[in-house]
Amino acid sequence: MLEKFERYPLTFGPTHIEKLERLSEHLGGKVQLYAKREDCNSGLAFGGNKLRKLEYIIPDAIASNADTLVSIGGVQSNHTRMIAAVAAKIGFKCRLVQESWVPHEDAVYDRVGNILLSRIMGADVQMVDEGFDIGIRQSWEDAIEDVKAKGGKPYPIPAGASVHKYGGLGYVGFAEEVRAQEEELGFKFDYIVVCTVTGSTHAGMTVGFAKDGRERKVIGIDASFTPAQTKAQVLEIARRTAELVELGRELSSDDIVLIEDYAYPVYGVPSDETKEAIRLCARLEGMITDPVYEGKSMQGMIDLVKKGYFPEGSKVLYAHLGGAPAINGYAYTFRNG
Ligand SMILES: Cc1ncc(COP(=O)(O)O)c(C=O)c1O
Repeated sequence: MLEKFERYPLTFGPTHIEKLERLSEHLGGKVQLYAKREDCNSGLAFGGNKLRKLEYIIPDAIASNADTLVSIGGVQSNHTRMIAAVAAKIGFKCRLVQESWVPHEDAVYDRVGNILLSRIMGADVQMVDEGFDIGIRQSWEDAIEDVKAKGGKPYPIPAGASVHKYGGLGYVGFAEEVRAQEEELGFKFDYIVVCTVTGSTHAGMTVGFAKDGRERKVIGIDASFTPAQTKAQVLEIARRTAELVELGRELSSDDIVLIEDYAYPVYGVPSDETKEAIRLCARLEGMITDPVYEGKSMQGMIDLVKKGYFPEGSKVLYAHLGGAPAINGYAYTFRNG
């Protein structure tokens, strides 16, 4: 579906699919859980889902003759870490706006994990005291203008690389990759579980799996706590991406499955149940999920298995999208394990 698009390789290649044997057993053994390890997809600053998206965006950045990637996220944004890494790799400068999206208190929150890595990679990091919003932000537009005013040539990449014109392409590629891996495995997955916030991961998967009629088998777990805005953004990106790849059919709101039950109490703050899911997955599988994104989708998947949402015998693929560095900002939360 992506043959006509230029791709700048930033990842190792197809990501590994592993069976979560002990977690499946622990939850009763009626549903087989697997994880596709997008968190281990690259040697660039611990990798993660943004690299698949950026592989289809970077050719446009290079062609535009820009010299500075300009992007935005929360203080512990994984996305901005990935932008800093890619800028370093392609020889661009990097300007990052880090907004106060998360009402979380930890003495080292703005010094460790993702933001620490971005600083080490040479990004110009600017802290802005604004709350959570996945839309286009004034602070980001101001940063773009500021780069220009100082003689630089900015290439703007929005939060999560999502509302960029090519933001959905990378995860169309994920679906194509899963189809090829299913051939080798000799079975098909019945469901794909994905964490959803800015929307292009879920949107790309929806388009990619629509090719073989599985778009409603992509189960988005909302972690934004603003699900109406997130769902609308997923649909908009999916429609635009479907047109780009010439899917040949209209996607509707019903094609976007977004479960809203696990994002509480708010974006970036883990509930007790999220913390339990993080511990359970770590203790049974040695797989680390974070309190902002993957811990919430892990909690969601575990709860859906317990509730019988997936029929007996289902094979469920959990897309592990990365994000572990942020856990350093939650050192006090996990001080006793
Ligand atoms: C680790 C991790 N998981 C999930 C997501 C959600 O992906 P998206 O923003 O494309 O919805 C993100 C980024 O926002 C992330 O960094």
